[in-house]
Parts: sequence; C-alpha cells; structure tokens
Amino acid sequence: MEETFVLIKPDGIQRKNIGQIIQRLEGKGLQLKAMKMLWLTPPQVEELYPHLKDKEFFPRLTNFMVAAPVIVMVWAGEEAISATRKLLGATNPQEASTGTIRGDWAMAVGANLVHGSDSPATARREIEQFFSQEEIMEYEQAGENWLKEEPWQ
Ligand code: RTP
Ligand code: MG
Repeated sequence: MEETFVLIKPDGIQRKNIGQIIQRLEGKGLQLKAMKMLWLTPPQVEELYPHLKDKEFFPRLTNFMVAAPVIVMVWAGEEAISATRKLLGATNPQEASTGTIRGDWAMAVGANLVHGSDSPATARREIEQFFSQEEIMEYEQAGENWLKEEPWQ
C-alpha cells in the first residue's frame, strides 16, 4: 500500500477547512495512518520545499507557512500519491478544477490550503521529516475490502 504525506497549511487552519479537507481524503477511500498539529519553523519549511529555496517567492512562502499552525498527516491506499494530488487540484487554485480542494475553496497560489507529496521518493522523505515509525499506525480498517476490484472475494 502506498503512503503519502499531506499537510494542511496555515490558511486551512485559519479558514476552518480542516474537516472538509480530511473528509475529501477519507471519503475517497484513503486510510489515515498518522496525524499531528505543529507550528513550522523556517528551517522546516526549507527542508519541506528544497526545490523552491532559490525562487523569488520563497521568502513569502516561508512567512506564510510559519504564520499559524499546520496539520501533518500520513494517508495510505492504492496509488495514494496520485489520488491525493488529484483531490488537491492544480497548484494555482485559479486553474484547479471545481470539485478539487483547491478548486473549491482557495483563490491564490500563495494560499492554496494543502500540500501533497509529488512522488514516492518525496513522500518517504516528507513522512520521515515529520513522523517516527512508531507514530504511523498499521491497522485494518472495517470495509477496506469494498474498495478493491473484487470486494466480495
Ligand atoms: P505543494 O508542494 O504545496 O503540494 O504544491 P505543488 O506540488 O502543487 O507545487 P510546488 O511547485 O511544489 O510549490 C509548492 C508551493 O509553493 C507555492 N508556490 N508559490 N508562483 C508562486 O508564487 C508560487 N509557486 C508555488 C505554493 O503554495 C505551492 O503549493
Ligand atoms: Mg510540491
């Protein structure tokens, strides 16, 4: 089962989108394996977004990411990384389709509510940045068979 890392950004906390975001992921059929709330520091933002640290917008992105607490989570499922990215929608909420989290509830690229890993290597690195192995719950979920191709098997 693939794991991905999801972070509800400060705007999601301040605008009270926490429940709606979790509901989209849970409703899709992904399994929540770990979750906590924390307040990021600038070095943690740089560790999360190493590919962006030389961009002109990085200082703004850092200020935004440390402006309020965030929620970090591990979600698992078949192709969890791409499934989550589809639920999030395009990076720029103005281009994100209606029905996606960013398309429905956000207006600006600098305040796009949520982060999701973009590859298996990134997911592993991001999960390890925020969680120890003991904090990731391994459990069977009632009804998980009914998410598969042949659920009656
Ligand atoms: P994320 O990592 O947050 O899930 O977003 P993403 O993969 O869709 O996009 P990425 O290129 O990794 O960018 C990370 C975050 O940086 C901010 N950003 N601002 N032109 C800009 O002002 C700009 N471009 C990117 C966004 O908050 C984006 O989510
Ligand atoms: Mg990204």
